[in-house]
Order: sequence, then C-alpha cells, then structure tokens
Amino acid sequence: MQMQRIEGITDVLRAVKAARRGGRRIGLVPTMGALHRGHAALIERAAGDGCFTVVSIFVNPTQFGPNEDLARYPRPLESDLQVAMAAGADVVFTPATAEVYPPGFDTWVEVGGELTARLCGASRPGHFRGVATIVLKLFNMTEPDRAYFGEKDYQQLQVIRRLTRDLDLPLEVVPVPTVREEDGLAMSSRNKYLSSEARAVAPWLYKALKTAAEAAAASERNAGIIRRHALEVIASQPAFQIDYLEIVDGDSLRPLDELQPGAMMLAAVRLGGTRLIDNIRL
Ligand code: PAF
Repeated sequence: MQMQRIEGITDVLRAVKAARRGGRRIGLVPTMGALHRGHAALIERAAGDGCFTVVSIFVNPTQFGPNEDLARYPRPLESDLQVAMAAGADVVFTPATAEVYPPGFDTWVEVGGELTARLCGASRPGHFRGVATIVLKLFNMTEPDRAYFGEKDYQQLQVIRRLTRDLDLPLEVVPVPTVREEDGLAMSSRNKYLSSEARAVAPWLYKALKTAAEAAAASERNAGIIRRHALEVIASQPAFQIDYLEIVDGDSLRPLDELQPGAMMLAAVRLGGTRLIDNIRL
C-alpha cells in the first residue's frame, strides 16, 4: 500500500483504527524530522515487526529552551518523506503546531525529579516535561501497541519507559540501538550543525566512551577510575566542553561509585555551538 501523509489528529486516528480492524498492530516512531539512518532503523524495526507503522514528524516547541535551536531546527520535509517511505512507513503524521497546542493549552506531564532533574535535565530545564507531554499526546493521537525510541537519547528512553509504566499506558516501549557513522559518531539530526573542523573532532566522544568500556571489560570496577580514562580522551580534544560525563545505573540513572550490572556511561559535550550526547553500556 502507498504511504500516506496525514496532518489531522482525527484523520490519523481514523487510519490507525482502520488498520487495527484489518488485524494490524500499530507501531509509532515519534520523530522531529530531519530523518537519518538512525530514524530509518526505528522505522525498519517497526515495519519488520509487522506493525502498521506511523512516523510522526513534529518539531515540538515545548521541549526547546528559550536559547535553543527551535527556529533553526532542520525541517527537510520532502527528503523526510522519502526516508520514511524507503524504510517502510505506512503513514507519516505531520500535525500542525496549532492543532497540537491550541490556544489555552496548559496541561503538562512531569516525570519524577530523580530521572529528569540531572544529566540533560540539568542543562535543559523543562526539556523532559516537553518531551513527556508531547509523547503522551502522540500516544493518545495514534494509540500504538508499540513505540520505538533510539538508545542514543538514553535518558529520554528511560523517561518514556517510566511514563509508560507509571501511567499504565497499554503499549510496549521498544529501544533500538544507536546507529553510528563509520567513524563512530552517533547519528543525530544536529550533526548537520557541525563545521568540518568540529565534525573531525566529534568522533572522539565515542572514542572516550569506548575507552571507558574497555577499562570495564578489563575488570576495572571503580567508576572514578573508569571516568578518568574517558576524561583523558576528551581532554585530548580541547574543542570539547564537557556538560556531563557520568557512570550511572542504567534504570534509575543514579550515579554509581562501583560498576554493577547494567551500568552505563552517559555523556554530553558542546562542540562549537552544537551539543552532542552519547552513551555506552559498561
Ligand atoms: O527524540 C526525539 O526526536 C523527540 O524528543 C521526540 C521523542 C520525538 C519527542 O518530540
């Protein structure tokens, strides 16, 4: 069947209800567009799971801070439609901001402080409130059985898992591994902002994370020592400004002193004007 582009909220719900009547399960891939191979992997996974696959493209204003890149966030709709179609989407849902947030909109979803106050939440106040609010709204608009999220935004993934569990949402959150460029840089729509000098430095973030994972694999258990190994690699590239580099429990995101099963290293750096995040399992 041909991929459809749908803008209206009642229209998308009609399409998913028809697919469900036809025996299909619904898979939602929420995105802000500027689709790359990481997004394609999410769409392919949903389609490969046999889902009627809805890709939402909505640059959500409520998750951007006042000094962030909302205005210049890339919006290449035509190429996004091509990527979504090639990856197997059934519907691309592009709601209008005025329909998602009509005048008077004032209901917000806050996922508990511990998961959202630290790490990206500390440098982007209100970000996860905007994410949780739009994701719950998208779930209500498209009634998915499964929703697919990239592991690159690891804190976001944990916030959405918690939201789904705490509010008894009847769907499965499916994590999909990070897709990387050949040199290790995690795919991100914001990589487009990197100058060629910054692009050459960017893969060192993943090199630092790999150094930490290698230390863990060599049986180092002290989180402080592992962190120092990664910090040395980052410090070798003076263009990086570290936002955070932490070893945390992979579920609660609480900082760890000693490695335990499920430990992760999460990192955010600034490079020129661009903020990069990445993570690795230790
Ligand atoms: O990861 C993203 O692209 C966004 O945060 C999401 C989940 C689509 C919500 O706007």
